[in-house]
Amino acid sequence: MKMKYFLLLLITITISVYPQKFENLALTPPMGWNSWNHFGCEINENIIREVADAMVASGMKDAGYIYVNIDDCWHGERDSLGFIHPDSSRFPSGMKALADYIHSKGLKFGIYSDAGWKTCGGKPGSRGYEYQDAMQYAKWGVDYLKYDWCNTEGLNAQGAYLTMRDALYSAGRPIVFSLCEWGNNKPWEWGKNIGHLWRTTGDITNCFDCIVDHGTWKSWGIMYILNMQDGLRKFAGPDHWNDPDMMEVGNGMSVNEDRAHFSMWCMLAAPLIAGNDVRKISDETKEILTDKEVIAVNQDSLGIQGFKYSAKDSLEIWFKPLQNDNWAVCFLNRSLKKQKISFDWKKENVIDSLSGRKIDKDNYKIRNLWTKKELGTTKETLTAEVSGHDVLMLRIY
Ligand code: GLA
Repeated sequence: MKMKYFLLLLITITISVYPQKFENLALTPPMGWNSWNHFGCEINENIIREVADAMVASGMKDAGYIYVNIDDCWHGERDSLGFIHPDSSRFPSGMKALADYIHSKGLKFGIYSDAGWKTCGGKPGSRGYEYQDAMQYAKWGVDYLKYDWCNTEGLNAQGAYLTMRDALYSAGRPIVFSLCEWGNNKPWEWGKNIGHLWRTTGDITNCFDCIVDHGTWKSWGIMYILNMQDGLRKFAGPDHWNDPDMMEVGNGMSVNEDRAHFSMWCMLAAPLIAGNDVRKISDETKEILTDKEVIAVNQDSLGIQGFKYSAKDSLEIWFKPLQNDNWAVCFLNRSLKKQKISFDWKKENVIDSLSGRKIDKDNYKIRNLWTKKELGTTKETLTAEVSGHDVLMLRIY
């Protein structure tokens, strides 16, 4: 055999045998639901089935929310051979049956584990059982794994996540791998070839602009989480996303605040994982979570995370390049007071040094994405008012 062909064969064999991340599972930010933000540990198979039903009935599924993810506390014990089983009182039918049910609705099934000895909720972690757990998840029909970082003292983050990535790959079922390491070890620097998304912060809390102190740890309101995304956009793109945590839309903030939170998650190209009780979704929450034009900003195929263009007197202006030379624009009013906007497109100079895109036409049309009203063109100065803790979100096209 000629040397050239031998080398080619060697490379092919190496690539196909060597473990890697399952590619192309998240070319746009993953969309779905997760049990944690609303239910915490109080979950069981009936709730998850009812949520799956409600995902379909509410229009969430049609809007693109595909994953139904069970977070912490589904676990029972490991058996004598080390295989993990669900809590038999909460999940008496077992995980395979639940996965089958979710799949029968055209949805996908996600589960949660932890790189340490125990999960954050004190359940059995995957440390030492990575390949066995991955095999079990594959047998159950899992499509998405969120992998947490509690009780990992002495472990190397990159190494621990790499082990689970390889375990998932060996198990053979394509599974979206969601790194939940809270940004402690800068996962954006090494996560791209390991997972499809990585948490950039500690836990979100259901509050627009506050911090909740739990003693040994803190959880963060929407504006705090937003601040922590500074400098990270260059690390994100198709199949590897910054994850500013699951959403709190519908969990008790005002409609304005929920709209601002959702809009910003779309501007950030963040995974859109709802965290509300979809079974009891209000009309307002439904309107926010299923708005197709706002979701299209998030799901734009370029996969470029938006950036903060300016910030003055609690008014921030964000831009996100979109396909076909379109842009999303979001005026975010972080204060409680109503604010006036006056934006003269001709005087501004919007350039995205990361993507090399700039606003170079002088006659874009402007559409208000939430009200669906056309607002003229970029030839005229845009004037508007934005309520407190709210946004004006536009597409220019
Ligand atoms: C950590 C994660 C949360 C959630 C809980 C579950 O705090 O960051 O998103 O999964 O654990 O215990």
